[in-house]
Amino acid sequence: MSKETVLKLLQANNGRFVSGEGISAELGITRAAVWKAVSALRRDGYDIDARKSQGYRLMDAPDRLTETEIRACLSPTKLVGRKLCCFESVDSTNSYLKRAASEGVVDGTVAVANEQTGGRGRRGRDFLSPPGKGIYLSALLRPPVEPTRLLPVTGFAAVAVCNAIERVALVRPRIKWANDLVLGGRKLCGILTELSMEGESGALQYAIIGIGVNVAQTEGDFPPELSDVATSLLEQTGKSVSRAALAAAMIEELDALYMALLRHKMQPYLDAYRGDCLTIGQEVQLLWEDVHERVRAVGVDDDLGLQVVRQNGAEETIRTGEVSVRGLYGYVE
Ligand code: BTN
Repeated sequence: MSKETVLKLLQANNGRFVSGEGISAELGITRAAVWKAVSALRRDGYDIDARKSQGYRLMDAPDRLTETEIRACLSPTKLVGRKLCCFESVDSTNSYLKRAASEGVVDGTVAVANEQTGGRGRRGRDFLSPPGKGIYLSALLRPPVEPTRLLPVTGFAAVAVCNAIERVALVRPRIKWANDLVLGGRKLCGILTELSMEGESGALQYAIIGIGVNVAQTEGDFPPELSDVATSLLEQTGKSVSRAALAAAMIEELDALYMALLRHKMQPYLDAYRGDCLTIGQEVQLLWEDVHERVRAVGVDDDLGLQVVRQNGAEETIRTGEVSVRGLYGYVE
Protein backbone atom coordinates (compact mmCIF):
# COMPACT_ATOMS: atom_id res chain seq x y z
CA MET A 1 0.00 0.00 0.00
CA SER A 2 2.68 2.57 1.02
CA LYS A 3 4.68 1.53 -2.04
CA GLU A 4 1.90 2.64 -4.43
CA THR A 5 1.11 5.83 -2.46
CA VAL A 6 4.78 6.84 -2.33
CA LEU A 7 4.99 6.19 -6.07
CA LYS A 8 1.92 8.38 -6.75
CA LEU A 9 3.48 11.20 -4.75
CA LEU A 10 6.79 10.94 -6.61
CA GLN A 11 4.95 10.81 -9.95
CA ALA A 12 2.91 13.90 -9.02
CA ASN A 13 6.18 15.79 -8.45
CA ASN A 14 7.31 15.19 -12.04
CA GLY A 15 10.98 14.44 -11.44
CA ARG A 16 11.40 17.09 -8.70
CA PHE A 17 12.89 16.17 -5.31
CA VAL A 18 10.53 15.58 -2.38
CA SER A 19 12.07 15.33 1.08
CA GLY A 20 11.71 12.13 3.11
CA GLU A 21 10.24 14.28 5.85
CA GLY A 22 7.70 15.78 3.46
CA ILE A 23 6.64 12.33 2.18
CA SER A 24 6.28 10.94 5.70
CA ALA A 25 4.25 13.99 6.84
CA GLU A 26 1.99 13.95 3.76
CA LEU A 27 1.31 10.21 3.85
CA GLY A 28 1.31 9.82 7.64
CA ILE A 29 3.98 7.10 7.59
CA THR A 30 7.41 6.89 9.28
CA ARG A 31 10.68 7.83 7.53
CA ALA A 32 11.64 4.13 7.78
CA ALA A 33 8.43 3.19 5.94
CA VAL A 34 9.27 5.74 3.22
CA TRP A 35 12.72 4.17 2.79
CA LYS A 36 11.20 0.68 2.71
CA ALA A 37 8.74 1.76 0.01
CA VAL A 38 11.53 3.36 -2.05
CA SER A 39 13.62 0.17 -1.80
CA ALA A 40 10.64 -1.95 -2.88
CA LEU A 41 9.98 0.37 -5.83
CA ARG A 42 13.63 0.13 -6.88
CA ARG A 43 13.34 -3.66 -6.78
CA ASP A 44 10.33 -3.30 -9.14
CA GLY A 45 12.56 -1.42 -11.59
CA TYR A 46 11.85 2.23 -10.70
CA ASP A 47 14.90 4.48 -10.92
CA ILE A 48 14.70 6.69 -7.81
CA ASP A 49 17.44 9.18 -7.02
CA ALA A 50 18.00 9.65 -3.26
CA ARG A 51 20.04 12.57 -1.90
CA LYS A 52 20.66 13.29 1.77
CA SER A 53 19.86 16.99 1.66
CA GLN A 54 17.08 16.93 -0.96
CA GLY A 55 15.12 13.68 -0.59
CA TYR A 56 13.84 11.50 -3.43
CA ARG A 57 12.96 12.00 -7.07
CA LEU A 58 11.63 9.64 -9.72
CA MET A 59 13.99 9.45 -12.70
CA ASP A 60 12.52 6.61 -14.75
CA ALA A 61 9.76 4.02 -14.53
CA PRO A 62 9.61 0.46 -15.84
CA ASP A 63 7.06 -0.43 -18.54
CA ARG A 64 4.37 -1.78 -16.22
CA LEU A 65 0.62 -2.02 -16.75
CA THR A 66 -0.39 -1.23 -13.16
CA GLU A 67 -3.26 1.03 -12.13
CA THR A 68 -0.79 3.62 -10.76
CA GLU A 69 1.18 3.75 -14.03
CA ILE A 70 -1.92 3.91 -16.24
CA ARG A 71 -3.70 6.51 -14.08
CA ALA A 72 -0.56 8.70 -14.12
CA CYS A 73 -1.08 9.03 -17.91
CA LEU A 74 -4.91 9.07 -17.95
CA SER A 75 -6.96 12.27 -18.35
CA PRO A 76 -10.36 12.28 -16.63
CA THR A 77 -12.94 10.17 -18.46
CA LYS A 78 -16.74 10.11 -18.19
CA LEU A 79 -17.48 6.36 -17.96
CA VAL A 80 -14.79 4.15 -19.46
CA GLY A 81 -11.97 3.55 -16.99
CA ARG A 82 -13.66 4.90 -13.87
CA LYS A 83 -13.02 1.41 -12.50
CA LEU A 84 -9.74 -0.14 -13.61
CA CYS A 85 -8.73 -3.74 -12.81
CA CYS A 86 -5.08 -4.48 -13.63
CA PHE A 87 -3.52 -7.94 -13.65
CA GLU A 88 0.03 -9.24 -13.90
CA SER A 89 -1.57 -12.35 -15.39
CA VAL A 90 -5.19 -13.38 -16.02
CA ASP A 91 -6.89 -16.05 -18.14
CA SER A 92 -8.56 -13.49 -20.44
CA THR A 93 -9.60 -9.89 -19.76
CA ASN A 94 -12.87 -10.55 -21.66
CA SER A 95 -13.60 -13.61 -19.50
CA TYR A 96 -12.71 -11.66 -16.35
CA LEU A 97 -15.19 -8.90 -17.26
CA LYS A 98 -17.90 -11.46 -18.04
CA ARG A 99 -17.54 -12.81 -14.50
CA ALA A 100 -17.42 -9.27 -13.07
CA ALA A 101 -20.50 -8.26 -15.10
CA SER A 102 -22.55 -11.05 -13.54
CA GLU A 103 -21.58 -9.59 -10.15
CA GLY A 104 -22.84 -6.16 -11.21
CA VAL A 105 -19.60 -4.28 -11.83
CA VAL A 106 -20.11 -0.67 -13.03
CA ASP A 107 -20.62 0.45 -16.62
CA GLY A 108 -17.27 1.42 -18.15
CA THR A 109 -15.12 -0.96 -16.09
CA VAL A 110 -11.82 -1.72 -17.80
CA ALA A 111 -9.61 -4.78 -17.30
CA VAL A 112 -5.96 -4.67 -18.40
CA ALA A 113 -3.40 -7.48 -18.24
CA ASN A 114 0.33 -7.82 -18.69
CA GLU A 115 -0.22 -11.45 -19.75
CA GLN A 116 -3.20 -13.67 -20.67
CA THR A 117 -2.96 -17.40 -20.18
CA GLY A 118 -6.16 -18.07 -22.17
CA GLY A 119 -6.44 -15.09 -24.52
CA ARG A 120 -9.33 -15.56 -26.96
CA GLY A 121 -9.65 -14.41 -30.56
CA ARG A 122 -12.49 -14.45 -33.08
CA ARG A 123 -13.86 -17.70 -34.53
CA GLY A 124 -12.83 -19.61 -31.38
CA ARG A 125 -9.12 -19.04 -32.01
CA ASP A 126 -6.51 -18.45 -29.30
CA PHE A 127 -4.94 -15.03 -28.99
CA LEU A 128 -1.29 -15.30 -28.04
CA SER A 129 -0.70 -12.92 -25.11
CA PRO A 130 2.88 -13.19 -23.80
CA PRO A 131 3.94 -11.18 -20.72
CA GLY A 132 5.50 -7.74 -21.15
CA LYS A 133 4.97 -7.63 -24.94
CA GLY A 134 1.44 -6.43 -25.54
CA ILE A 135 -1.59 -4.66 -24.14
CA TYR A 136 -4.55 -6.91 -23.42
CA LEU A 137 -7.44 -4.60 -22.55
CA SER A 138 -11.21 -5.03 -22.33
CA ALA A 139 -13.98 -2.55 -21.58
CA LEU A 140 -17.45 -3.40 -20.31
CA LEU A 141 -20.26 -1.22 -21.67
CA ARG A 142 -23.93 -1.22 -20.75
CA PRO A 143 -25.47 1.15 -23.32
CA PRO A 144 -29.29 1.38 -23.28
CA VAL A 145 -29.58 0.51 -26.99
CA GLU A 146 -30.87 -2.29 -29.19
CA PRO A 147 -28.18 -4.99 -29.73
CA THR A 148 -28.39 -4.34 -33.51
CA ARG A 149 -27.05 -0.80 -32.95
CA LEU A 150 -23.84 -2.42 -31.74
CA LEU A 151 -23.20 -4.29 -35.01
CA PRO A 152 -20.54 -1.80 -36.14
CA VAL A 153 -19.08 -1.14 -32.67
CA THR A 154 -16.03 -3.38 -33.17
CA GLY A 155 -15.08 -1.46 -36.31
CA PHE A 156 -15.58 1.85 -34.50
CA ALA A 157 -13.41 0.53 -31.66
CA ALA A 158 -10.75 -0.15 -34.32
CA VAL A 159 -10.90 3.57 -35.23
CA ALA A 160 -10.58 4.46 -31.52
CA VAL A 161 -7.46 2.27 -31.21
CA CYS A 162 -5.98 3.81 -34.40
CA ASN A 163 -6.49 7.24 -32.77
CA ALA A 164 -4.76 6.09 -29.57
CA ILE A 165 -1.80 4.56 -31.44
CA GLU A 166 -1.42 7.67 -33.59
CA ARG A 167 -1.33 9.90 -30.49
CA VAL A 168 1.26 7.80 -28.63
CA ALA A 169 3.38 6.14 -31.34
CA LEU A 170 2.95 8.81 -34.05
CA VAL A 171 1.94 6.27 -36.73
CA ARG A 172 -1.61 5.54 -37.85
CA PRO A 173 -2.37 1.88 -38.58
CA ARG A 174 -4.90 0.98 -41.30
CA ILE A 175 -7.90 -1.26 -40.80
CA LYS A 176 -8.31 -4.56 -42.65
CA TRP A 177 -12.05 -5.17 -42.89
CA ALA A 178 -13.70 -5.91 -40.56
CA ASN A 179 -11.58 -4.88 -37.60
CA ASP A 180 -7.93 -5.94 -37.65
CA LEU A 181 -5.40 -3.13 -37.29
CA VAL A 182 -2.57 -3.44 -39.76
CA LEU A 183 0.85 -1.79 -39.97
CA GLY A 184 3.43 -2.50 -42.67
CA GLY A 185 1.05 -5.07 -44.19
CA ARG A 186 0.87 -7.18 -41.02
CA LYS A 187 -1.58 -7.55 -38.16
CA LEU A 188 -0.84 -5.28 -35.20
CA CYS A 189 -4.04 -5.60 -33.19
CA GLY A 190 -7.16 -7.74 -32.99
CA ILE A 191 -10.51 -6.95 -31.40
CA LEU A 192 -13.12 -9.33 -30.03
CA THR A 193 -16.52 -7.95 -29.00
CA GLU A 194 -18.86 -10.15 -27.02
CA LEU A 195 -22.49 -9.31 -26.27
CA SER A 196 -24.77 -10.67 -23.59
CA MET A 197 -28.50 -10.55 -24.18
CA GLU A 198 -31.47 -11.33 -22.00
CA GLY A 199 -32.95 -14.64 -23.14
CA GLU A 200 -36.64 -13.67 -23.15
CA SER A 201 -36.68 -10.05 -24.29
CA GLY A 202 -33.50 -10.06 -26.38
CA ALA A 203 -32.49 -6.83 -24.61
CA LEU A 204 -28.79 -6.07 -24.38
CA GLN A 205 -27.27 -6.75 -20.96
CA TYR A 206 -23.72 -5.70 -21.75
CA ALA A 207 -21.03 -5.58 -24.41
CA ILE A 208 -17.38 -6.37 -23.79
CA ILE A 209 -14.87 -4.94 -26.26
CA GLY A 210 -11.54 -6.79 -25.95
CA ILE A 211 -8.44 -5.42 -27.65
CA GLY A 212 -5.01 -7.01 -28.02
CA VAL A 213 -2.17 -4.80 -29.32
CA ASN A 214 1.29 -6.13 -30.15
CA VAL A 215 3.65 -3.53 -28.70
CA ALA A 216 7.15 -4.83 -28.01
CA GLN A 217 7.54 -8.16 -29.86
CA THR A 218 10.61 -8.64 -32.01
CA GLU A 219 10.92 -11.14 -34.85
CA GLY A 220 11.66 -14.22 -32.76
CA ASP A 221 8.76 -13.56 -30.39
CA PHE A 222 6.11 -14.67 -32.89
CA PRO A 223 5.60 -18.39 -33.51
CA PRO A 224 6.45 -19.56 -37.07
CA GLU A 225 2.80 -19.65 -38.16
CA LEU A 226 2.41 -15.93 -37.28
CA SER A 227 5.82 -14.61 -38.27
CA ASP A 228 4.65 -13.58 -41.78
CA VAL A 229 1.34 -12.23 -40.59
CA ALA A 230 1.87 -10.45 -37.25
CA THR A 231 3.92 -7.43 -36.28
CA SER A 232 4.43 -5.06 -33.35
CA LEU A 233 4.80 -1.31 -32.88
CA LEU A 234 8.46 -1.84 -31.95
CA GLU A 235 9.11 -3.84 -35.11
CA GLN A 236 7.44 -1.25 -37.36
CA THR A 237 8.69 1.99 -35.81
CA GLY A 238 11.96 0.89 -34.21
CA LYS A 239 10.89 2.77 -31.09
CA SER A 240 9.67 1.60 -27.69
CA VAL A 241 6.40 3.04 -26.49
CA SER A 242 5.18 3.10 -22.92
CA ARG A 243 2.44 0.47 -22.65
CA ALA A 244 0.87 2.41 -19.76
CA ALA A 245 0.68 5.59 -21.90
CA LEU A 246 -0.86 3.64 -24.79
CA ALA A 247 -3.34 1.84 -22.51
CA ALA A 248 -4.37 5.23 -21.06
CA ALA A 249 -4.86 6.68 -24.57
CA MET A 250 -6.94 3.60 -25.54
CA ILE A 251 -9.17 4.10 -22.47
CA GLU A 252 -9.64 7.81 -23.33
CA GLU A 253 -10.50 6.99 -26.95
CA LEU A 254 -12.94 4.23 -25.91
CA ASP A 255 -14.58 6.73 -23.54
CA ALA A 256 -14.96 9.23 -26.41
CA LEU A 257 -16.42 6.44 -28.58
CA TYR A 258 -18.86 5.43 -25.83
CA MET A 259 -20.02 9.05 -25.42
CA ALA A 260 -20.54 9.34 -29.19
CA LEU A 261 -22.56 6.10 -29.16
CA LEU A 262 -24.78 7.30 -26.30
CA ARG A 263 -25.33 10.65 -28.07
CA HIS A 264 -25.97 9.06 -31.50
CA LYS A 265 -23.06 10.98 -33.00
CA MET A 266 -21.32 8.24 -34.99
CA GLN A 267 -20.70 10.03 -38.30
CA PRO A 268 -17.07 11.03 -37.48
CA TYR A 269 -16.28 7.36 -36.68
CA LEU A 270 -17.93 6.21 -39.90
CA ASP A 271 -15.94 8.74 -41.93
CA ALA A 272 -12.71 7.77 -40.15
CA TYR A 273 -13.40 4.06 -40.71
CA ARG A 274 -13.87 4.66 -44.45
CA GLY A 275 -10.60 6.58 -44.54
CA ASP A 276 -8.66 3.98 -42.54
CA CYS A 277 -10.01 0.81 -44.19
CA LEU A 278 -7.40 -0.52 -46.61
CA THR A 279 -9.72 -3.22 -47.95
CA ILE A 280 -11.84 -0.66 -49.85
CA GLY A 281 -10.70 -0.51 -53.47
CA GLN A 282 -8.92 -3.89 -53.29
CA GLU A 283 -9.48 -7.18 -55.04
CA VAL A 284 -10.03 -9.66 -52.23
CA GLN A 285 -10.84 -13.29 -51.82
CA LEU A 286 -14.01 -14.26 -49.98
CA LEU A 287 -13.85 -17.55 -48.18
CA TRP A 288 -17.34 -18.87 -47.70
CA GLU A 289 -17.36 -22.29 -46.14
CA ASP A 290 -15.03 -24.02 -48.62
CA VAL A 291 -15.68 -21.75 -51.58
CA HIS A 292 -13.14 -19.09 -52.59
CA GLU A 293 -14.40 -16.20 -54.67
CA ARG A 294 -12.49 -13.22 -56.02
CA VAL A 295 -14.40 -9.93 -55.71
CA ARG A 296 -13.72 -6.19 -55.71
CA ALA A 297 -14.40 -4.36 -52.43
CA VAL A 298 -15.92 -0.98 -53.27
CA GLY A 299 -17.09 0.50 -49.96
CA VAL A 300 -18.64 -0.03 -46.53
CA ASP A 301 -22.24 0.78 -45.62
CA ASP A 302 -23.34 2.61 -42.45
CA ASP A 303 -23.22 -0.64 -40.43
CA LEU A 304 -19.72 -1.33 -41.77
CA GLY A 305 -20.92 -4.12 -44.05
CA LEU A 306 -18.42 -4.61 -46.91
CA GLN A 307 -19.88 -3.69 -50.31
CA VAL A 308 -18.40 -5.88 -53.02
CA VAL A 309 -18.84 -6.41 -56.75
CA ARG A 310 -18.76 -10.07 -57.78
CA GLN A 311 -17.23 -11.44 -60.98
CA ASN A 312 -20.68 -11.52 -62.64
CA GLY A 313 -21.16 -7.82 -61.84
CA ALA A 314 -23.64 -8.40 -59.00
CA GLU A 315 -23.29 -6.09 -56.00
CA GLU A 316 -23.50 -7.55 -52.53
CA THR A 317 -22.94 -6.46 -48.95
CA ILE A 318 -21.01 -8.84 -46.74
CA ARG A 319 -21.58 -8.84 -42.98
CA THR A 320 -18.77 -9.64 -40.59
CA GLY A 321 -18.90 -13.24 -39.38
CA GLU A 322 -20.45 -14.47 -42.64
CA VAL A 323 -17.26 -14.88 -44.58
CA SER A 324 -13.55 -14.46 -44.18
CA VAL A 325 -11.92 -11.81 -46.35
CA ARG A 326 -8.35 -12.40 -47.43
CA GLY A 327 -5.80 -10.50 -49.44
CA LEU A 328 -4.95 -12.18 -52.73
CA TYR A 329 -1.33 -12.94 -51.81
CA GLY A 330 -0.14 -12.07 -48.29
CA TYR A 331 -2.18 -11.04 -45.26
CA VAL A 332 -3.53 -7.91 -46.93
CA GLU A 333 -2.14 -7.68 -50.46
C1 BTN B 1 -8.81 -11.54 -33.05
O1 BTN B 1 -8.01 -10.92 -33.75
O2 BTN B 1 -9.17 -12.67 -33.35
C2 BTN B 1 -9.34 -10.88 -31.81
C3 BTN B 1 -8.32 -10.86 -30.71
C4 BTN B 1 -8.80 -10.19 -29.43
C5 BTN B 1 -7.80 -10.30 -28.32
C6 BTN B 1 -8.19 -9.49 -27.11
S1 BTN B 1 -6.86 -9.36 -25.95
C7 BTN B 1 -7.94 -8.68 -24.78
C8 BTN B 1 -9.23 -9.47 -24.87
N1 BTN B 1 -9.17 -10.68 -24.10
C9 BTN B 1 -9.26 -11.78 -24.85
O3 BTN B 1 -9.22 -12.95 -24.42
N2 BTN B 1 -9.36 -11.44 -26.14
C10 BTN B 1 -9.37 -10.00 -26.31
